[in-house]
Amino acid sequence: VITPVITIDGPSGCGKGTIAAKLAERLGWHLLDSGALYRGLGHAAMAAGVDLDDGEALGQLAGRLDLRFAGQRLLLEGDDISSAIRTETAAAAASRVARHAPVRAAMLDWQRNAVRPPGLVADGRDMGTVVFASAPLKFYLDASLKERANRRYKQLNDKGVDANLVDLTDDLRERDQRDQQRALSPLVAADDAVVMDTTRMSIDAVFNSVMDAVRRSL
Ligand code: C5P
Repeated sequence: VITPVITIDGPSGCGKGTIAAKLAERLGWHLLDSGALYRGLGHAAMAAGVDLDDGEALGQLAGRLDLRFAGQRLLLEGDDISSAIRTETAAAAASRVARHAPVRAAMLDWQRNAVRPPGLVADGRDMGTVVFASAPLKFYLDASLKERANRRYKQLNDKGVDANLVDLTDDLRERDQRDQQRALSPLVAADDAVVMDTTRMSIDAVFNSVMDAVRRSL
């Protein structure tokens, strides 16, 4: 029996993380937040003083890292780095380390090993195009840059974190461009993905329409 995988890809702030977590919970499936892995590697590289442009060194670092999920928490050598990887600095580092072939190769095994019965919901940039290209159900969530920056701003404000909307918008734009224009596994919708523009949708509305597609396909 093949364990089913549902993929959810899209740019930063499109809501894919929230939707993936809700979907995994509703189905009772496992969850893979692949962005957290790249953030964890970026975090580890900065801590170890590894150059974010040195693909070989980063690939080696990725191969020997003890990076593990404990439920929703991400552990690096046993230390909880879940909060540390949520900063814009960590996000920028993630998107820089994610460009390198040795890094993506190391992450590929890691991600495919996360497939476990009864099923996996995987969110990221290349879940439907590369890592789980044969997944039976794929989603691609999008939203305008302005809306995504606003969501991130609200999120940070709710957490009591100081944020600047103009800076956030610039950071998101820069990261999206890097993710979309890179040579390896660029951010793009898979040909067979269900594409949704969530700009004017609430999280509940997005989740309901994702669940409709899931019910039709399972
Ligand atoms: O999804 P999240 O914002 O946590 O991802 C952080 C960065 O990690 C992205 O900007 C992207 O460069 C990289 N990433 C990737 N492939 C994935 C998931 C994330 O390259 N599957």
